Amino acid sequence: METRIVCVDEKNIDKEVIREAGEIVKAGGLVAFPTETVYGLGGDALNPASSRKIYEAKGRPSDNPLIVHIAKVEALSAIVKRVPEEAVKLAQAFWPGPLTMILEKSDLVPAETTGGLETVAVRMPSHRTALAFIEAAGGYVAAPSANRSGRPSPTAARYVAQDLDGRIEMILDGGDVELGLESTIVDLTAGTPVILRPGYITRQMLADILGRVEEDVTILRDDSGQAPKAPGMKYRHYAPKGELTIIAGPKQAVAEYINRQLEGCRREGKKTGVIASDATIGVYQADVCKNAGDPLDESALAKRLYRILREFDDEDVEIIYSESFAGAGVGQAVMNRLLKAAGHRVIELK
Ligand code: TXA
Ligand code: MG
Repeated sequence: METRIVCVDEKNIDKEVIREAGEIVKAGGLVAFPTETVYGLGGDALNPASSRKIYEAKGRPSDNPLIVHIAKVEALSAIVKRVPEEAVKLAQAFWPGPLTMILEKSDLVPAETTGGLETVAVRMPSHRTALAFIEAAGGYVAAPSANRSGRPSPTAARYVAQDLDGRIEMILDGGDVELGLESTIVDLTAGTPVILRPGYITRQMLADILGRVEEDVTILRDDSGQAPKAPGMKYRHYAPKGELTIIAGPKQAVAEYINRQLEGCRREGKKTGVIASDATIGVYQADVCKNAGDPLDESALAKRLYRILREFDDEDVEIIYSESFAGAGVGQAVMNRLLKAAGHRVIELK
């Protein structure tokens, strides 16, 4: 299949292109599109055959449910059993935006879309191209991140093409995304709301609206012995091809340790990479050094992380060391993704 890549300017949306993209989805095809978080791979959420195609194109296990994207809040009630008070409040506060809510699904949503679960994930993105496309596609677009399973989520159309060219009908190219990490997922089906995946909407922001909010224990650890509640979080994710290790501890000790390791890799003839920050980018002797920016600017980190991981792949880096970027807000989401990319390989220095 030939994949058409078409540029769409969010500020001046080409209605004809959006109409065509909508028609493709209505006919059961797949279209990748930009959102404010990452690019999504969209199909008709109410058509079981479309969801099967999404799994196939991504190479994704079909027990891993998809997020249903809507373009207006009123669309929610048809796909869920009921809209709890908390969902109304969260929608008022954060939709359109990078928040996904898990609710009980209605019969309208096929089991294929929810990976066989009785619950459905719903999000209303804020990207204007995404909203126009969802509307044109019939109002309910199932969309996982538009990467092949196991690869970092795409933050630009060229990364979608790298992974999915020839497997889908169309890519709407809206340039670089704004945020760079996937939406926060909050489960509203279990009594106290639980965060299943951290993101731009932080625990504190949710707590300000809802009062009590809990966190799935598997978010920053892998030793809890429990399976994550979001099925997708259990798979090795966001993985670069090279072996990534996070080195945490005092700056000086981290720099010395990483440089010693790099020395060893060089002797073995391995190509090396480092994820450093503004203050440390000059100190490493790696083949490829990437600057994640100012560690206190968590949003900038979030925006760069997946691109950096993909660039290491493009340059065939074999061994990667990263400084630690633990933070309280969006930094938690960054660390959650970095830990997954590293398969939880962390060395803590004193
Ligand atoms: O920002 C985002 O959320 C992006 C853009 C495209 O909107 N989408 C995205 O989708 O990240 P995906 O499929 O890559 O991740 C969805 C996550 C998976 O970990 C999945 O297991 C979880 O949401 N999920 C979906 N439905 C669920 C449900 N009913 N219960 C629990 N977890 C669910
Ligand atoms: Mg994904």
